[in-house]
Amino acid sequence: MKNFYRVTKGLIGTFFSFYFFISFLFFTPVRASDLNKVNQIKINVQLNELDLNSGKKLFFANCNVCHIYGKNLIIPEKNLKKETLEINGMNNFDAIVYQIVNGKNGMPAFGGRLQENEIEQIATYVLQQSKESF
Ligand code: HEC
Repeated sequence: MKNFYRVTKGLIGTFFSFYFFISFLFFTPVRASDLNKVNQIKINVQLNELDLNSGKKLFFANCNVCHIYGKNLIIPEKNLKKETLEINGMNNFDAIVYQIVNGKNGMPAFGGRLQENEIEQIATYVLQQSKESF
């Protein structure tokens, strides 16, 4: 029995030394810069969500009368669906911002009425929404 304890103790000891040796080999310290990266990603995601949320509110307040559910009540074929935007070369941020600022035919110009960052938030929302559910 004594021998049995001695052997198991020895085995456990060997096991733990081996375990610590191996964990030491694979140990990679977490650097502050890594944590900063993670935080930066979190902040970016939050900012993007903020943009989408206020973009959504602004869209409902300013655009929804004509573009309800991404349609176009005045010129139906100029709706905000992904495929339509692609065909009309409107499936990018800059083109949408430009059209909101300057208007076009039946669409009023919002340049004087909305601020630049508000227009950008709306454009972000329109682009995102056209991909998802317009
Ligand atoms: C009074 C109605 C009206 C309002 C309000 C309006 N639009 Fe429009 N929108 C139009 C019309 C009409 C067109 C088609 C213009 C054209 O190309 O002749 C259009 C076209 C567009 C297009 C291009 C669609 C395509 O397939 O080419 C985008 C993008 C767009 N509007 C976004 C917006 C956004 C964002 C808002 C709010 C800031 C807005 N519109 C407000 C009437 C409106």
